[in-house]
This record gives sequence, C-alpha cells and structure tokens, in this order.
Amino acid sequence: MKEIKNNIYYCGVQDPDRRLFDELIPLPHGTSYNSYLIKGSEKTALVDTSYSKTLQEFMHCLSGDTAGIDYIIANHGEGDHTSALRTLLELYPKALIVTSAKCKEILIDAYSIDDAKFLVVSNKERLSLGDKTLEFHLAPFVHWPDTMFTYVIEDKVLFTCDYLGAHYAGAFWAPETPEYLEGARRYYAEIMMPFRTHCQKYVTKIEEGIKPEIIAPSHGGVYQNPSFILNAYREWTADNPKNKAVIAYVSMYGNTGTMAKYLAKKLTELGVETELCDIVKGDLGDLASALVDSATIVLGASMVLANPHPCAVLGIYITNVLRANVKFFSLIGSYGWGGNLTGKIEENINGLKVEKLDYIIVKGAPKDETYAELDKLANTIAEKHKKIGV
Ligand code: FEO
Repeated sequence: MKEIKNNIYYCGVQDPDRRLFDELIPLPHGTSYNSYLIKGSEKTALVDTSYSKTLQEFMHCLSGDTAGIDYIIANHGEGDHTSALRTLLELYPKALIVTSAKCKEILIDAYSIDDAKFLVVSNKERLSLGDKTLEFHLAPFVHWPDTMFTYVIEDKVLFTCDYLGAHYAGAFWAPETPEYLEGARRYYAEIMMPFRTHCQKYVTKIEEGIKPEIIAPSHGGVYQNPSFILNAYREWTADNPKNKAVIAYVSMYGNTGTMAKYLAKKLTELGVETELCDIVKGDLGDLASALVDSATIVLGASMVLANPHPCAVLGIYITNVLRANVKFFSLIGSYGWGGNLTGKIEENINGLKVEKLDYIIVKGAPKDETYAELDKLANTIAEKHKKIGV
C-alpha cells in the first residue's frame, strides 16, 4: 500500500487491460478501481472497495493490514466500488458500512446486506477515527442519486468516488498532461455530462467550501493539485458551449461521408471549429468528448432497409442520453430508393434542447444543388453561433 498522506493509504487495483466500460464505451487507457485506507489513532476506515473481477487482487492488497477495519465508507453503490463488501464483512464482522440513505437502499438490493450493518450519515455529519475526523458531503447525481464525498478534515484529503475521476490505469498521482486531461474529459463526457449542472455546482462547493489539498477519486490518479481537475470541470460544465460543431456520421457507399466532409470543410472556413466523428470507425468516447463543448450536432446518416442506419441511431441516442449541451441540430444523409430517415432520428433528440436547422437528405450521390444546400447550412450554423455569442 502506498501512503498518500499521514496514514492515508492507496489500496486500489489497476486494470490496464479493460477495454470497455458498461459494455459500451471503449477505454483506451484502461481504468483503475481506487480504494483508500485511513488509519486513525483509534479507528480505521476503508473508502470504497473494488470491482468483482479484481476482487482477488484487491483483497491481496489489503491482506498486509492487520489492524482491522472498523468502517467501510461506501461513497457510491455501483458495483465497481462495492463488489468486495460481502467479503469484507465476513473478514471484519464488526465493521459498519457508512453511507447515505440512498446508497444503503442500493446496497441492500444488490448484496442483501443486513440492515444492522449500516451506519447512515447525513450531509456534513462527522465521524471520529481518533486523531482524524471524517466529514461526509452528500453529492447526489454525480452520477447516481446515492453519491457522497468523504473528507478527512485534519489532512484536507477529499474522496470523491466517480466525480473528477478518469478511466486511466497506471497513474498513482494524476499527471498534468494533455493525454491525462483528455482521458478525464472523455470520462466526464461519458459519465458526468448528463448531470452537467450538478457537476458545475460541486466544483464551486469544493473550491469555496471544502478547500481540499488533495482530491482522491475512485478511478484514475490522485490529484496533488486539485485546481488541475477543478479548472477543467469548470470549463467543461460551462453554460455556454463553444463556436464548435460535431458532425457524427455513418456512410455506407461514401455519399453521406462526402456530404459530411464537405460541410466540415465549409464550417472550418467560416471559423467554426469542427470535429468529424465516423461513428462506425471511431469510438463513442470520441463522440462524447467532442460533444462536451459543441454548440451544434449534425448527424450524417445512411439508410438500411428503408430506415436510418442503426449506428446513426446509436450516435444520436448516445448524444441524447448524455444530454449534450448542444443548441442546434441538423440531419444530412443519403438513401438509395426510399424510406423514412427523419422519424427514427427525431425520436432520439427529445432530451436535447435544440433548435432544428434545415435537413439535407439526398437520393443517391450529392449533386450541385446538394452542395449549395450544404453551403447554406454551414452559413446558418456560423450565424446561429454568432447570434448566441459563442
Ligand atoms: Fe465507478 Fe458509478 O461507478
């Protein structure tokens, strides 16, 4: 176990080979399941546990500790942080699970743990470990309703579970590099973006209220410089997006791809930062990351069996469930003989607060008039961005 500060130890597991999270989002840097042991002069607390597939390694990491565990702090109930609970309760039968009321409910449903094993805490409640005091801050909806943060007052270390984390294996201290930051941004986009305003609120709460010197999340590295990640979150959760458009597309025979690339070129010429995301060849994490600060999403869709290509539906479905802060939406695409491109796509934008712009849907290959329409759409997007001041 590695000490992060005065008798506070890291006992997490690195998982560099994990390639998918939630069986959906690619993990280019793997991930980690961080757990921390806090040894007070009288009591010992463990903050978060581990994932079922890394249970053995986690228990091995803990096995060197002979002092026992009095409290298991469950900051959040999801299985990647709680899968060791039953095993730990067998090993440390006197230990209590310290958690929020909501998390207790989730843990009982998931693991059938006896009610008497819980100590439910409320916001700002404190728990003494002797020379260390834990203070709990309820922080619902980053990203589940159960979440709380745990703060060691004397050492100024804040444990935020998923919040401010990154799917990034192999970094004990979070490196302040563009690569790490992009990993943290993808993670924010995939997990936290639907709760943007909550994330924004907790940045202020941590900076102005708690003022930690170290932030220790339960995925990725530990932040010795909290401003590094808090500044990034302030930017990513801003109310106003940037003068930026994402064109996410699927192209079976190249026609939709040609339209997407032409529109991207025109937008770039007009000064709109544009990201082209091939939904099939790229990965959903790249699309999610591009959506963090984009004002416009343009979906490019081919058709299969008289309906939108399923990968196009997936692209817009993901945009919708992530509740991207986009302001404008357009659809471009090509079809061979007939069908309905717009219906199934529009069913999947109901979570977005967007103004719909013109759609450009062409039979077969794009023609001269198609390019003229794309020019017009590019101009409209640039003007709309100007109008809302991005
Ligand atoms: Fe890392 Fe929401 O679990």
